[in-house]
Amino acid sequence: MNLTRLVYYSQRNPSEALDVDHLIETCQRNNGRLNVSGLLHYNGDHFLQVLEGGRVEVSALYHRIARDSRHSNIILLSCSDVRERMFPTWSMGLHQRMDDRTRQIYLRYFATDDVNPETINVESLLDVLQDLSVELAPRVTIDQT
Ligand SMILES: Cc1cc2nc3c(=O)[nH]c(=O)nc-3n(C[C@H](O)[C@H](O)[C@H](O)COP(=O)(O)O)c2cc1C
Repeated sequence: MNLTRLVYYSQRNPSEALDVDHLIETCQRNNGRLNVSGLLHYNGDHFLQVLEGGRVEVSALYHRIARDSRHSNIILLSCSDVRERMFPTWSMGLHQRMDDRTRQIYLRYFATDDVNPETINVESLLDVLQDLSVELAPRVTIDQT
């Protein structure tokens, strides 16, 4: 079975209520059932999300998420077949900080910590997200057997 990884960037809609804990619970419940893993990075203004799983599941989930009024201006950064999951232990990990540590990690891979979704190099962005994910407690729900 193929494995697809999709990455997008979006802007939080400030006029819609957002309960991040509730959102992540929904993600973990649904994604675990779909064998979708990934990471959600939220800095208070923007979301960056990685979804990995079967092509059909990732595609359907992305279209559902894209219709969600809690965010807008969604930019699809990449969608491609991959050989391996990058975030196998998270049905959806949440990284919610933009602190000095996060900035240091950005600066390891980019000249500035200012993400411009129009020009950003997605491979470097995934390196950032992978380094950020190391600091999260694993939430294992993907059955890899
Ligand atoms: C930034 C963002 C990321 C989301 N990511 C996911 C996700 O990974 N999985 C998911 O099931 N829903 C995600 N959602 C929520 C969906 O848009 C939708 O509300 C949810 O899937 C509905 O699930 P329910 O029918 O179980 O309530 C996300 C929403 C936003 C705003």
